[in-house]
Amino acid sequence: MIVCSCNVLSDGAIKACLKDGGECPRSVREVYSCLGCSPKCGRCANTIRAIMEEAFAAAVACPPGCDCCAASIGIEAMAE
Ligand code: FES
Repeated sequence: MIVCSCNVLSDGAIKACLKDGGECPRSVREVYSCLGCSPKCGRCANTIRAIMEEAFAAAVACPPGCDCCAASIGIEAMAE
């Protein structure tokens, strides 16, 4: 599903971007950057934020020491 029509970003591309290990985006703006674009109209920001929150929630179930990228997304970092 296309999440950002301005940059033609899909939810799958955003989720994949969140699993890139140490280079994992920690804010919505960093997601755009990770995917080689920048925000234009901004209508998709809330949806991207929701995808990030979902990834974070899923990472909470990771065992201690897991290097899952989404586990490193702090609540504060996602408030942007
Ligand atoms: S829909 Fe994403 S910047 Fe416009």
